[in-house]
Amino acid sequence: MAKLWSGRFQKETDRLVDDFHSSISFDSRLYKYDITGSMAHARMLARVGVISGREAEAIVRGLEEILADIEAGRVEFSIAAEDIHMNVEQLLIERIGDVGKKLHTARSRNDQVALDVRMYLRDEIDAVLELLAGLVQTLLDLAEKHVETVMPGYTHLQRAQPVTLAHHLLAYCQMFGRDMERLRDCRRRVNVMPLGAGALAGTTFPLDREFVARELGFDAITENSLDAVSDRDFAVEFTAAASLVMVHLSRFCEEIILWSSSEFGFIELDDAYSTGSSMMPQKKNPDVAELIRGKSGRVFGDLVALLTMLKGLPLAYNKDMQEDKESLFDAVDTVKKCLLIFRPMLATMRVKGENMARAARGGFTNATDLADYLVKRGVPFREAHEIVGRAVAYCLDREKSLDELSLEEFHRFSRVIEDDVYEAISIARCVEARGVPGGPAPEAVRQAIRSARERLN
Ligand code: ARG
Repeated sequence: MAKLWSGRFQKETDRLVDDFHSSISFDSRLYKYDITGSMAHARMLARVGVISGREAEAIVRGLEEILADIEAGRVEFSIAAEDIHMNVEQLLIERIGDVGKKLHTARSRNDQVALDVRMYLRDEIDAVLELLAGLVQTLLDLAEKHVETVMPGYTHLQRAQPVTLAHHLLAYCQMFGRDMERLRDCRRRVNVMPLGAGALAGTTFPLDREFVARELGFDAITENSLDAVSDRDFAVEFTAAASLVMVHLSRFCEEIILWSSSEFGFIELDDAYSTGSSMMPQKKNPDVAELIRGKSGRVFGDLVALLTMLKGLPLAYNKDMQEDKESLFDAVDTVKKCLLIFRPMLATMRVKGENMARAARGGFTNATDLADYLVKRGVPFREAHEIVGRAVAYCLDREKSLDELSLEEFHRFSRVIEDDVYEAISIARCVEARGVPGGPAPEAVRQAIRSARERLN
């Protein structure tokens, strides 16, 4: 079949050109959106009297059959037909004849592709949101079990102050919760209907754009035809939000990798989410976590590719924009795959609470609490800091922890210290005492879990 736009050409396109500019190899995944968008367009054309009701019916029926055939794997797409839009249109014409040639009235592939990508992305945002909600659910379930599981909190990857595993997990709940907000917000700008923008300057036909928007579940219609066909900021926004999801997953994975090492020994990953070494029989590697960490780079790359593709383009549509798809699809696929596997990996890991507690007891994580103890007995904080610093140095020399000092030894550093110091700097007490909203004390954490659950529902 000749190209749908061949009228003004004397020669066929070079085979190399066909190969080079065809997008069907990747945009075929938009077929469902392309077809449902075309059905709505055809119905609308009949509604405003541009085609007859019978013609619209024939078109819709033809499109339904094509959809069924694609879904059943009975359609072979053609590279010469360039993209999914012209493949579908060409199939329609082959099947229903001349009526099929009326479908593209008052429409361009430029507004059509914008429509398809928006419909696709809307669905994918919903899918990513569901995966994120599931992950947060798992985090909250796990947190509930570990409200009293003490572990060291770190700064500079040096033991700093004691927290609990639940508190640590809730930090990620916050991050993923904000990711969800960002995606919901992005979805509002994705869900705007561009059809009617035509190639760039709208159309002379009296289209009912609102009807198409309603048919296809859009909240609004685009307000400028040039903008409608030439921006992809919504795809950039999604990829930026997806990049942050990947940042959060990647940081979490980094911790899981550290925690599962013998050096930390905080967790053991389930066999089902670990792999072995081809040479070293003893190895159990956190490959899944490493791969998620590694795949974050792909999504950041997709974001940079989209930004770079757009930045120099004059209005309105330019073919460069066809490059939006592979980046966007890759970002969607990657973030979904990573979320899908991360959740069960987390849910099945074994927590080694005793090792966490031991680590929290070492490393002077209660030093700030000793300083606070002195402050509560009238010592200015800066002075208390100095005193405890000297006590720590003393302990280091003798390979002791602060709570192993005798009262006599304590008195070398300060006379205000009394017997109640041991209770005040016990690790459990250090956590319990941090009851400020947003802090790690079990009560504060239980409250945080409750409000997180409410927000989720
Ligand atoms: N395959 C094209 C894309 O993805 C569809 C739009 C083509 N429009 C055009 N005027 N060449 O962007």
